[in-house]
Amino acid sequence: MTKYGSFPGARPRRLRTTPVMRRMVAETRLSPADFILPAFVREGVSEPVPIGSMPGVVQHSRDSLRKAAVEAVEAGVSGIMLFGVPEESKKDAVGTPGTDPDGILQVALRDVRAEVGDDLLVMSDLCLDECTDHGHCGVLDAEGRVDNDATLERYAEMAQVQADAGAHVLGPSGMMDGQIGVVRDALDQIGREDVAVLAYTAKYSSAFYGPFREAVASSLQGDRRTYQQDPANLRESMRELALDLEEGADMVMVKPAGPYLDVLAKVAQSTDVPVAAYQISGEYAMIEAAAEKGWVDRDRAIMESLLGIKRAGAQNILTYWAVEAARRL
Ligand code: PBG
Repeated sequence: MTKYGSFPGARPRRLRTTPVMRRMVAETRLSPADFILPAFVREGVSEPVPIGSMPGVVQHSRDSLRKAAVEAVEAGVSGIMLFGVPEESKKDAVGTPGTDPDGILQVALRDVRAEVGDDLLVMSDLCLDECTDHGHCGVLDAEGRVDNDATLERYAEMAQVQADAGAHVLGPSGMMDGQIGVVRDALDQIGREDVAVLAYTAKYSSAFYGPFREAVASSLQGDRRTYQQDPANLRESMRELALDLEEGADMVMVKPAGPYLDVLAKVAQSTDVPVAAYQISGEYAMIEAAAEKGWVDRDRAIMESLLGIKRAGAQNILTYWAVEAARRL
């Protein structure tokens, strides 16, 4: 008898013997309904434009976006989160394309709603950074600082035009204080109690946004450290969570996902509203780049990264692999 065998202890390996056994005892399962696909649509292009730092992801034309939305429905994905990339010449200090009913994001929201109806949740990024010539998520004061309350006025207008254009869910992502309350009020004022708000609750000032900034042709000089959170802070996210819930958030989100699983776990344990996590562009790019070099098994790395995010407590995951992962399940 082996030494271990002389003890009547449990043998966890018994539960790992066969694929069926492992499947039965799996504590976490991914399903297509978990996923939300973030998608970019660029004004003035007739063909999709590849994004160099995100192999496999494109800036869509209006047409290719409609097709991508249909594919998402067919794959069983729950939602699509749209980001608009306006023509460079239309960007200005206050981000006019963000409130123009004919701005690219609003046009795309109408296109996608016309295509998918209620078969897919149509979500819109509510932020000014894609629309401003300085690239910040808000408007600036005389000293060049991001002006919180002046930005809130712009967000209120954006909320109304995005709802008019057909968004089911708005995703305020600029990290201004009070943004959830202002967006909620703006929607209620025009009788759109039906439009939900997915709050970017804990959004960190991250190096991993790099590829996204290329994706939206960002004009940003400098950084977003005066409004996005410091990566060092965990407890601060509890404060952001309390405020967002008080202001009327229907769902909350943690972003990025992978480097912030502790934050995600804590948020998920602290609230009873649905919790989402955004696996961002840099998380995507890292796996794609390592896989291209043959350093990791691409498909396994993708699924493991998503499983980890779900295990940490996310009910929904925004991921650029949404359709691919959903098809594989
Ligand atoms: C800001 C915004 C960012 C992302 C989505 N909306 C971050 C930023 O530029 O600071 C990042 C998404 C990603 O990296 O995949 N409105």
